Amino acid sequence: MYVCICNQVSDRDIKASIQEGATTMRALYKEHNIGSQCGKCCQCAKKVLNNELLKI
Ligand code: FES
Repeated sequence: MYVCICNQVSDRDIKASIQEGATTMRALYKEHNIGSQCGKCCQCAKKVLNNELLKI
């Protein structure tokens, strides 16, 4: 599913980034520009990030 429609970033993209070491929203922003346009995806992206970090 798309998390960030503006930048076409999916939850899979986010999970892949986390597996490669991303642990913060800033890291996701740097890699995918998440939240750089309308910002509506930030809460959802944070949820995905936090859920994935709990699994590590
Ligand atoms: Fe992510 Fe708009 S949906 S910036």
